[in-house]
Amino acid sequence: MSPFSLTRTLPPDATAAALRADVQQGLARQPKELPPRWFYDARGSELFEEITRLAVYYPTGAEREILQARATGIADVTRARTLVELGSGSSEKTRLLIDALTARGGPLHYVPVDVSESALTGAGKALLADHPGLTVDALVADFSTAPALPATPGPHLIAFLGGTLGNLVPGERAGFLRMVRSLLGDEDALLLGTDLVKDPATLVAAYDDAQGVTAAFNRNVLAVLNRELDADFAPDDFDHVAVWDAEREWIEMRLRARSAVTAKIPALDMTVDFAAGEELRTEVSAKFREAGVREELAAAGLALRYWWTDPCGRFALSLASPA
Ligand code: SAH
Ligand code: AVI
Repeated sequence: MSPFSLTRTLPPDATAAALRADVQQGLARQPKELPPRWFYDARGSELFEEITRLAVYYPTGAEREILQARATGIADVTRARTLVELGSGSSEKTRLLIDALTARGGPLHYVPVDVSESALTGAGKALLADHPGLTVDALVADFSTAPALPATPGPHLIAFLGGTLGNLVPGERAGFLRMVRSLLGDEDALLLGTDLVKDPATLVAAYDDAQGVTAAFNRNVLAVLNRELDADFAPDDFDHVAVWDAEREWIEMRLRARSAVTAKIPALDMTVDFAAGEELRTEVSAKFREAGVREELAAAGLALRYWWTDPCGRFALSLASPA
């Protein structure tokens, strides 16, 4: 069997239909909003990787520090023979887990799941170059419903890293964690990365870098609508905005119209009007506290077994298992 396979679980027209529905509903709503998954075409995935290399964007470095310190312990506790990763992106930090799990001996299966096919193929090739004993079964799939995972040996460790849980609003998070619980057997575990509440200046700086990389990532969603739906957005008509919502403890990324804008979306037979200053919410990025993570896991039937943070307390990794 080939050490690399890539499976598209959704026919391309299902993705197209999901985009159409999200745009039709989200741009007709007041205030306007789009789900963040549409950032991640090939260019959006590259821009996200660029963000992770910015000094102000601390989550990636902080989570890597935790993995460097804990990967061997995680491998020892979970004894996982299959690592499933949801929203895997470049799988860059995951190498630390793969190294620790393969160091225990025996074959390891890695099942990265992502909507970005370019990210999956890039990550798969790079990983196999360095880990000849690894089997990679990549899935192009949306993690908002249970992915059809291949039959692989247990125990299974499902990883959801980077703080991507925070890109879901509370109702979506509850559904997502219940879905993850439904994938876990008694011997399996969840490894969850969550960014933590901290001072607003640090948070806003992480989402509004001076080089404009996050602004380009944010505006990229308009390029996706132009390409996929024949829309005529001029991305430069919109300012990138990052604000801290202290009540809901999340960062919101928005695109704010610099002046009145009318955009046509012929594929949907739709015209969208923005008043000058009107905003489109493109992402929430929730920040967490230990008690909240414990509660959300418990509500989904998962018990928090370990809670690790980086030495500066910026980011946390949780290891949870069926309650
Ligand atoms: N886990 C990596 C990447 C985080 S970026 C890290 O820690 O650096 C978020 C990733 O989730 C992107 O690769 C994006 O393509 C993917 N993603 C976003 N929404 C998704 C969805 N609904 N289903 C599957 N993947 C999704
Ligand atoms: C993928 N996700 C956890 C990132 C975040 O920090 O919410 C996406 C991102 N948005 C802006 N910068 C990075």
